[in-house]
Parts: sequence; structure tokens; C-alpha cells
Amino acid sequence: MKIGVAKNKKKIFVSLYKKNIELHPLWLRERVNNQGLLDKNTGQRLYDPADLNHKLKIKKALIKKKLLNVEFTDGIESHYHIDELLEEINKNISNKKIFLWNSRIKNKPFFKFKTDMFNNREGYSFLEKFYKYGFSILKNTPAKKNFIIKFANLIGVVRPTNFGVLFDVKSVRKASDLAYTPHSLSAHTDNPYRKPIPGIQILHCVKNDSEGGHSTLTDGFAVAEYLKKKHKNFFKLLTSVKIRFTFVSKDTILENWGETIELNKNGSLKRVRLSPRLDYVPILKKDQLNQFYKARALFIKLCNSKKFMIQFKLEPGDMLIMDNYRTLHGRTAFNMNIGERHLQGCYIDHDSAESKMKYLKRKFNIYGQS
Ligand SMILES: [Fe+2]
Repeated sequence: MKIGVAKNKKKIFVSLYKKNIELHPLWLRERVNNQGLLDKNTGQRLYDPADLNHKLKIKKALIKKKLLNVEFTDGIESHYHIDELLEEINKNISNKKIFLWNSRIKNKPFFKFKTDMFNNREGYSFLEKFYKYGFSILKNTPAKKNFIIKFANLIGVVRPTNFGVLFDVKSVRKASDLAYTPHSLSAHTDNPYRKPIPGIQILHCVKNDSEGGHSTLTDGFAVAEYLKKKHKNFFKLLTSVKIRFTFVSKDTILENWGETIELNKNGSLKRVRLSPRLDYVPILKKDQLNQFYKARALFIKLCNSKKFMIQFKLEPGDMLIMDNYRTLHGRTAFNMNIGERHLQGCYIDHDSAESKMKYLKRKFNIYGQS
């Protein structure tokens, strides 16, 4: 992507989508950050952009090294840092730099924890990789109970649920959820019955000397892309039929609807939902349901297959962070009579984690990545 000025110096262009697109004078004028036009502390506009003259033009534009100087016909003169402007234009392109993976993944996004990492570049790298892969693992965190909350607040804001601020993944006699039993759990996303669905799940391993109890992860977007290529009709059904997901306990009834694979308007992947223990398919014609059940079964099979699923044992001190809109997780069964398995979990929303990533990016003047 490149920014250039026309010969007459009255038009500014950016090469985008293999075309030269003229930057509208108002688009640029709204982004002027001169003193007096923006509030010093908040960076918010001190004027209503609707009041700008819609016939506003560029009187003169000039690029000098990394700066674009612009003089508008309303007398305002300003300069833009080219890198910042390109960054702003980049935000209009929805293609996030994600990396689809399967069980042959090399270079898993593993990091070593350092107390002050979320005040420096390492914190940015960690979050950037997390968004690229849909998960990451931080090793060597203190294997202490409740440390997870301290950690979660370093990268975002904890989202409490009816399970509390955090939940203990430990087998109990009368469990309220299958997670709290020693049974295996097939690949799933968490809590699709909530509004909104929690964006990020964090699991912290406090103790794990049990027999079995390996964690599993699957890139739901990679499976979705595979279906799109190999089983178009199934993909169509999974992206269009809305499922009801529900959680019911003595005093709680939660319910939400959504597609197994949800798409953005431009057809790109938005999120996956899979929770085969608490999903309810709507009434459809028998033929359609026949097809849907086949599609769902294949999706579940692929998500739990050797081709797509990775498996590893969490060690005490490991912090696993998962994008609950993309990555499915599960675990193998474990023996309650040998050793102890104790994980603690909590949720945070995407906006707070993205905010942290963007904050660190700005702090260290990093351009061109997510
Ligand atoms: Fe789960």
C-alpha cells in the first residue's frame, strides 16, 4: 500500500485493492489532529464533522519524507504521518492476519511468563500471536490458586458469569457441568448459550499429576475452511441453520441461538459454535434435517480428528488462552484415583484484550501488524 499526491497537488491517492483510490478531502479533514480541533486529554473532536463544508477541497498537498502536508480550502493546514495514515487505511481491510493450523502445526505459540511482560514488547508479541493462532500458552506462571484473576486483569477485564469470577475445573461428586467430572470432553466452544458469548477463555493449571487429562485444541476456522472446499453443501447448512443452545440449573436458564459456523457479510469466518451436549436443532423439513445431521456429525468428527486436533498435557504453571470464537477445546478422560488435576478458568472479552494489544502497539510505535 502506498500513498501518493497527484501532479496538480490537489488530490491524494492510495493504492488499495490493486486500484488507486482518491482519499476524500472530508475523510482526511476529519482526521486532522491540530490543537483546538481535538480535546487534549480524550483525543475526541471538539466540533461536529457534519458542520464541515461538504464542498471542502484540498488546496495543496505535499509529501516530504514520512510526512504528508495538507492545506484545505477552509484554511486548516495539517500534517499526517504516512505510517499512521496507512495504519488507519489498513483498518478498513477486514482480512486479519490469521494463521490456520491443524495437527501438523509447527512453532506453537508458547511463551515464558515474565512479571512485567504486559508493560513491554513481549506482551504485544504474546497477544499478536494469540490472535494469529487463536490460542497461546504461557509457561512458568506461578502455579498458585486464584493467580488466574491477576493474570486475566493484566491482559483484559474479567467477565464474571453465574459460575463466578472464576471456576475450578476439578472433579466433584454432584457436578453442575460435565467439565467437573473425570469424563473426556470432546472438542467444543464454551457457553454459546450466553449473550454475548464469552470471547476468550483462560485456563490455568494449578496441579496436574493425574493419569490422562490431556488438553486438546482444534482450529475451528481451519475445519470450516476445509468443509467449504470439500463439502460445500454441508458448509452451507452449518452456516445458515441457527441452533438453540441452552444451560439450565436449579436457578439459572440461559439461552441463545446461532449458526455452527457464522460468517461475516463478506463471507469471511466470524465465529464457530460447537457444544454438542447442549445444542437443540430447530424444526426443519425431514430431508433438510437429514442433511443437517450429517453435516453436524462430519464437523464434530473433523474437530476431534487426528488431522485437526492437537493434544498436550498442561503442566502446573501453564496458562492457556483460547479465542472462544475460533478455537475449540476439550480433554481426554482422567483417573480420579491417581493424582490430582486442578485447573482454574475464567473469561475475558475480546475488546479488553484487543485494547491491551493496541495500547502496547502504540506505546512501542509498532506498525504493520495486527
Ligand atoms: Fe469448556
